[in-house]
Amino acid sequence: MTPSAAELLAWYDRHRRVLPWRAAPGEARDPYRVWLSEVMLQQTTVAAVGPRYARFLARFPTVGALAAADWAEVAEEWAGLGYYARARNLHACAQAVAAAGGFPGEREGLAALPGIGPYTASAVAAIAFDAPVVPVDGNVERVTARLHAVEEPLPAAKPRLTALAAGFMADPAARARPGDFAQALFDLGATVCTPRNPACGLCPWRGPCVARRAGIAETLPRKAPR
Ligand code: ADE
Repeated sequence: MTPSAAELLAWYDRHRRVLPWRAAPGEARDPYRVWLSEVMLQQTTVAAVGPRYARFLARFPTVGALAAADWAEVAEEWAGLGYYARARNLHACAQAVAAAGGFPGEREGLAALPGIGPYTASAVAAIAFDAPVVPVDGNVERVTARLHAVEEPLPAAKPRLTALAAGFMADPAARARPGDFAQALFDLGATVCTPRNPACGLCPWRGPCVARRAGIAETLPRKAPR
């Protein structure tokens, strides 16, 4: 049984989390907002990012405003969000994007910008531009490892999980809504396919989930001892 993107998207349409950086259904998606939220979420929890994100946007409402700001102002607004290198990259990235006249619309162009790694490039490409890519964060790794019962431990399993996640885009229903599909995976991992006590009974993919059938969902993904 193959997992159906249409079923996951139907679940998302009913249960999607309302988050400050999410556009309402049908509303235009601003690449600047998407990028800013993804950078903040790299090291700060969803709950903690909310208020800081709103404050940051109020002070720097556009990528041009952020690019034109003094470094001291950016550093001040970033205070408490950790690693100044991230804020440095954020500022440098805003300046590169403003000079270029906007964000590149595909993953490769995004990945060439300061501070944008493979995950962030894929997340912005999918969520802001509906590029047919699947960003792989911890939630997506967990959902994918369970769905396909990947028992190889992380980090060695990472390339395989990335390839399996990319395979979701073979489904035309996923290709029709890549940004929603990515966020559906995030929400599924955060609210149903949780690290402990996954709520498999509520999962739109409980049918095709190989780990669930084998009774090992909660044990995946495995982690190599450090
Ligand atoms: N984690 C990282 N990006 C996210 C997003 N766009 N929505 C929810 N959780 C996330």
